Amino acid sequence: MLPTDADTPRPRSLAVLISGRGSNMLAIADACSDGTLNASIDLVISNRPNAPGISSAESRGLKTVVIDHTAYPARSDFDNAVHAQLLSINPDWIILAGFMRILTPEFVHQWPDRILNIHPSLLPLYPGLNTHRQALDAGDTEAGASVHVVTPELDAGPVIAQARVPILPGDTEQTLAQRVLREEHDLYIKALQQCLILDTTIDSGAVLR
Ligand code: GRF
Repeated sequence: MLPTDADTPRPRSLAVLISGRGSNMLAIADACSDGTLNASIDLVISNRPNAPGISSAESRGLKTVVIDHTAYPARSDFDNAVHAQLLSINPDWIILAGFMRILTPEFVHQWPDRILNIHPSLLPLYPGLNTHRQALDAGDTEAGASVHVVTPELDAGPVIAQARVPILPGDTEQTLAQRVLREEHDLYIKALQQCLILDTTIDSGAVLR
């Protein structure tokens, strides 16, 4: 039987939150454009007005919004502003990609199991900052990156995908960060592919959310 429109899963809507360079966001944008991901980035939010990722996103024609966290005295006010922007597109998935703000539990609970983050360590090792420094100081022989579901506790939600790289003699934080970043882009896309398959299963009624 020929496939019909009803057999074609609905493209998923993504919102990406960034604070800086945005290379993971761009890798995901590429994967949406070339069909690797059946999804579109419908909104890019940065908490920093001068984040390079914002101009990169604009030059791709992506919708961008800057919500400068320094303009909000309380963390919850900032989160409410982000939440309001997200509601305008009601994304299927919220992708944290180098987003350097801790989200309040209230915010996280508004998007249960719908927020993903990529963290540059082999979680549960080294949550928080300076992950590469910590791996080098500990004398680890490997490092890597993890994609996890965001829960209220920092970098502690369920890990859904990991990539490993060796730590080589003479590595610095910079060389290690570059090696890990090269793996991050593919890792995030593969993790998202799994999430989109899960969504499709939910659509078909096989799984109840
Ligand atoms: C990545 O290393 C990511 O793991 C961490 O922040 C960095 C963001 O890089 N959370 P980019 O902005 O995606 O280039």
